[in-house]
Amino acid sequence: MSNAKLILDGKEYELPVVVGTEGEVGIDITQLRAQTKAITLDSGFANTGSCKSSITFINGEEGILRYRGYPIEQIAENCSFLEVAYLIIYGELPNKEQLEKFENDIKHHSLINERLIKMFDGYPDDAHPMAVLSGMIGALATYYPDSEEDMDLNIIRLLAKAPTIAAFSYKRSVGQPFVYPRNDLDYCENFLNMMFAVPSEPYEIPKVFAEALNLLLILHADHEQNCSTSTVRMVGSSLANIYSSISAGVCALWGPLHGGANQQVLAMLQRIQDDGGDYEKYINMAKDKNSGFRLMGFGHRVYKNYDPRARILKTVAAKVLEAAGKDDPLLDIAKKLEEIALNDEYFVQRKLYPNVDFYSGILYRAMGIPLNMFTVMFALGRLPGWIAQFKEMREDPKFRIYRPRQIYVGPAQRDVVPIDQR
Ligand code: CMC
Repeated sequence: MSNAKLILDGKEYELPVVVGTEGEVGIDITQLRAQTKAITLDSGFANTGSCKSSITFINGEEGILRYRGYPIEQIAENCSFLEVAYLIIYGELPNKEQLEKFENDIKHHSLINERLIKMFDGYPDDAHPMAVLSGMIGALATYYPDSEEDMDLNIIRLLAKAPTIAAFSYKRSVGQPFVYPRNDLDYCENFLNMMFAVPSEPYEIPKVFAEALNLLLILHADHEQNCSTSTVRMVGSSLANIYSSISAGVCALWGPLHGGANQQVLAMLQRIQDDGGDYEKYINMAKDKNSGFRLMGFGHRVYKNYDPRARILKTVAAKVLEAAGKDDPLLDIAKKLEEIALNDEYFVQRKLYPNVDFYSGILYRAMGIPLNMFTVMFALGRLPGWIAQFKEMREDPKFRIYRPRQIYVGPAQRDVVPIDQR
């Protein structure tokens, strides 16, 4: 493809064009300011590529998501979460030996230092588990000073310890004793056991929940340059360590416009049910810009089609509820809302479809995971993506510190008036 041409103030400039594997086109403006003194202005970075990446491909118009070239539907059907984590982080699916070693390494790093565990006591009982997760992951940096040679070990530690931290924060919030990780269980079973086992009675991990959790984590594993991933890259670009960078990613994910939406979706569905199930009223509120209400779990910066992850979850949600012998009226409300919204001019025109968060909460709820842990579940799933993106950036010989520019629109130069004359 030939260079792009820019005419600015009557002068013509040539800008190189970069084409990705799937034909995505980018205009390389790296030299723009040096050549023209101008910058690009793109609020919310909606048209800005911040890097080249080989990890995840999304075609939002067609609703396509692939990890390292593999369609999400095939991955969801055939892989375990740790297989997917390996794929995302190291670029290829592991063979049997590689996977076994990866799983074993993770099992053998799942404990948290006993002194670090004392930090849980410093948090109030009602501390939001996302704040705890971010704080504890940040604190890991005090135990494992980061160095580039330790990258693989730090990756193992993060994947191993994050579920323990998440489950401990839940146990702490309900006043139950911590349940330590068990090496005879797989990643998802172990997490469910740490969450729900109690010393007083045996706990049998429901197979259907472990399978659903595996799927949920896979579907969240990476999503290219979203808000939290860009945050991880931003922080990591200053050469900050991997724990601090990922702790910052957790904070970014927490917001209701990003990962926090899954908690908001359930709260919204509950509100609609408590209000007598009047869907139309809430659809109308979502369309009214003055109401301050949005249909949570709907719309996406990149997908202008059905989010493929939501499509998978919708089918699974119904199956899991059936297998668990549970009937959740909120699933019916969600389906009704979706049906109305997909046929409503407002949503059709703006290409607003259900996103991954629309159905994930119903699954978490069916498993007994409390509402304020939903975004933590998203974080556990997204961890391999954050790690892979951090690693890709740090291994790129051309990476530079993230440092956007701005157009200053404040006051022009003026003189300070002494305080007694103001
Ligand atoms: N309900 C009602 N209207 C909406 C919604 C919604 N959920 N989402 C977007 N719109 C409208 C918006 O008001 C705007 O209308 P207009 O053109 O008349 O001003 C138009 O659609 C475009 O929206 P936008 O806010 O410019 O789009 P964005 O790309 O900046 O925001 C979004 C994307 C996901 C933040 C937004 O769709 C939203 O707030 N959705 C609800 C929150 C949510 O579900 N977030 C989870 C995202 S998926 C998980 C993740 O990756 O984090």
